[in-house]
Amino acid sequence: ESYDMGGHDTYMHKEIHEQADAVDRALRGRIDDRFSTVHLGGLNLDARDARAVRRVKILGCGTSYHAGQIGAQMIEELARIPADAEPASEFRYRNPVVDPDTLYIAVSQSGETYDVLAAVQELKRKGARVLGLVNVVGSAIARETDGGIYVHAGPEVCVVSTKCFTNMVVSFGLLALHLGRTRDLSVADGKRIIAGLRKLPEQIAEILANEAEIEKLAGEYADAKSMMFIGRVRGYPVAREASLKLKEVSYIHAEAYPASELKHGPLALIEPAMPTVAIVPDDDLLEKNRAALEEIKARSGRILAVAHQVQEKADHTIVVPKNEDELDPILMGIPLQLLAYYTAKAMGRDIDKPRNLAKSVTVE
Ligand code: G6P
Repeated sequence: ESYDMGGHDTYMHKEIHEQADAVDRALRGRIDDRFSTVHLGGLNLDARDARAVRRVKILGCGTSYHAGQIGAQMIEELARIPADAEPASEFRYRNPVVDPDTLYIAVSQSGETYDVLAAVQELKRKGARVLGLVNVVGSAIARETDGGIYVHAGPEVCVVSTKCFTNMVVSFGLLALHLGRTRDLSVADGKRIIAGLRKLPEQIAEILANEAEIEKLAGEYADAKSMMFIGRVRGYPVAREASLKLKEVSYIHAEAYPASELKHGPLALIEPAMPTVAIVPDDDLLEKNRAALEEIKARSGRILAVAHQVQEKADHTIVVPKNEDELDPILMGIPLQLLAYYTAKAMGRDIDKPRNLAKSVTVE
């Protein structure tokens, strides 16, 4: 990829459209069909090390932190290792207990974010094993970690991250599969996940081909002063990232909540002027999510659903292709990148360089 705009009006638009190729690159040469697993050359973690991991702690900032939240769920689901993600800055200022059986993973597009780098250095000083999940080859975080995965998204210029986020989540899928296959993930499940990963580039292209519909929807919601994003379990970090994307580029206030928490406060905000974007995958929580849509509808809230089938209670549904349940979060955020882009465009925002933000924050 070059820095050429290639006919796109912004880098954000260009980078959104590069995602099918970027994911293809993240998968290339890594899948091992013989053992239904993946090879991650730079990981520096042999099977014995992998099996000795008792917990996984993922650290990152902004979009990378959200990618880490999805990654933590994938690792728990596929490898059955307790995992969670935390903002790197919070972690480093709370004198964390550093545990020798925990695998720490630093996630960063630039590999230069100061808070993440400082967390890595503190962990190393205390003798922890730290891996990097990084885009920029040879960056500070890539150099200071014990090993890791390059996400191979290619250069990302727009301040708000799109294709790198997607490739981070795909890379977490690879890592979760790898860790899972050193433990109890069956060959059949390994095969199932590999088949799902291979489908991603084509499914991403399918979502992007729907762009005109999403542009129209952005027109419908651009008058909102504030928007709510909801999701449950796998859908919750997707909602958080979509909400961040919208506020970064359009400056519309947005907040993300687990759908299950609506009744504990945010329902009070629901009215026609506060639309809700709901992540509604066809998984075992479908009925629970539908119930949340009903609660919102009963309070005259407008709803835009991102789902695998049209949602009756929603005013609009963006239908995305179904993958394996564990990999659905990779796809469900993509139409919402376009929604953020078209909303910002309709409002005349400086899309590639939103006010007050920097691509990488290398100071404290
Ligand atoms: C900045 C950018 C965000 C990014 C975050 C982490 O705040 O504006 O888009 O997610 O830094 O950056 P990193 O390079 O570590 O992924």
